[in-house]
Amino acid sequence: MSAIEKTMSQKSIDLEYKYGAHNYHPLPVVLNRGEGVYVWDVEGKKYYDFLSAYSAVNQGHCHPKIVAALVEQASLLTLTSRAFHNDVLGAYEKYVTTLFGYDKILPMNTGVEGGETALKLCRKWAYKVKGIAPNKAKILFAENNFWGRTLAAVSSSTDPSAFNDYGPYLPGFEIVKYNDLKDLEKALEDPNVAGFMVEPIQGEAGVMVPDEGYLKKAYDLCKSKNVLFIADEVQTGISRTGKLYCCQHEGVKPDILILGKALSGGVFPVSAALADDEIMMTIKPGEHGSTFGGNPLGCRVAMAALEVAVDEKLADNAEFLGNIFRAELNKYIETSTICSAVRGKGLLNAIIINDDEESDIAWNICMKLRDNGLLAKPTHGNIIRFAPPLVMTQAQLLDCLSIITSTLKEFEI
Ligand SMILES: Cc1ncc(COP(=O)(O)O)c(C=O)c1O
Repeated sequence: MSAIEKTMSQKSIDLEYKYGAHNYHPLPVVLNRGEGVYVWDVEGKKYYDFLSAYSAVNQGHCHPKIVAALVEQASLLTLTSRAFHNDVLGAYEKYVTTLFGYDKILPMNTGVEGGETALKLCRKWAYKVKGIAPNKAKILFAENNFWGRTLAAVSSSTDPSAFNDYGPYLPGFEIVKYNDLKDLEKALEDPNVAGFMVEPIQGEAGVMVPDEGYLKKAYDLCKSKNVLFIADEVQTGISRTGKLYCCQHEGVKPDILILGKALSGGVFPVSAALADDEIMMTIKPGEHGSTFGGNPLGCRVAMAALEVAVDEKLADNAEFLGNIFRAELNKYIETSTICSAVRGKGLLNAIIINDDEESDIAWNICMKLRDNGLLAKPTHGNIIRFAPPLVMTQAQLLDCLSIITSTLKEFEI
């Protein structure tokens, strides 16, 4: 194709390819506008967004209330650093801690920084409160976890594409099997274990939902050994699975709760670790922080994003629509040769395509879904995650189900 014939989309893709690192493999679609459950490409084609920026846009694209908060605050004050106080941070901290039921919040920016903060809090608590000997604290992680790309996250990963060639790795991390209480119980026998960090549903691993009761029993096991239960709710939090945060399905209040992504409705990078004073107050001035963490712009945006989640009852909608989504796809699967299962909670779901991880059938299905007006992305080769914005209506969901099932039909053998 000559330069003159190139579509607008192709020009953007070429620029990214030439000047950007090749650390992602995006679906070939170039977006320039979003509103609610819809996004548009540069050629003007409209799509349902079924990824929601990996569950960051739970409140829908460009939610007017969140954008208004951003614009208003942007013209007043954006950043002071924590060298000075600002007049939004305290109000935000009060709002979030009241909503989630914790004594304190430590504000950061990206999800992985929320995870790093939780681990640092856990280690400090281990030495200052639990009394573990210096540098001996261990933290347990579940196999196939994903919590970001820093060296600590990579050091606790079991995915070769995440950790290969990034060693040497951080010590003090151990892996237990996900959804396996016996394995956890055994690992907890070590008195140097300070914490267990876990996703209530493993998103990146392919929407792996543990058995009912697993989270509560895992929490109780941790408590019996004076070990902190740390929930990574960066992807599952903020109403995605049908509760404000996923551990609430089992009545578990984690010792440390990590939030990110939809905490700002996808408008600004805002993350947080929440904990009670016994844990949070172990970190003293100067011992942890971030230039942007707690900035007035992010705080204002996050407050608006949380208010939207509460006011618009997004958790209830996720629960309601998620049940319809799985019921309809389960019906379809009964006679399908291409799709073997649907799993998930609320509006965090995935379907399993009958093929090995190396095949490109799931990718081809996503390409066809794109052509048919719905954007989704495969994970681990044969799994397609479906996570639309939670502001979706029932009529829109039914429309999407018809796009999904008619697309799958094109691949039936
Ligand atoms: C469960 C979980 N934790 C943490 C992260 C990291 O968040 P971020 O990419 O904002 O650093 C992710 C990102 O996908 C995630 O899914």
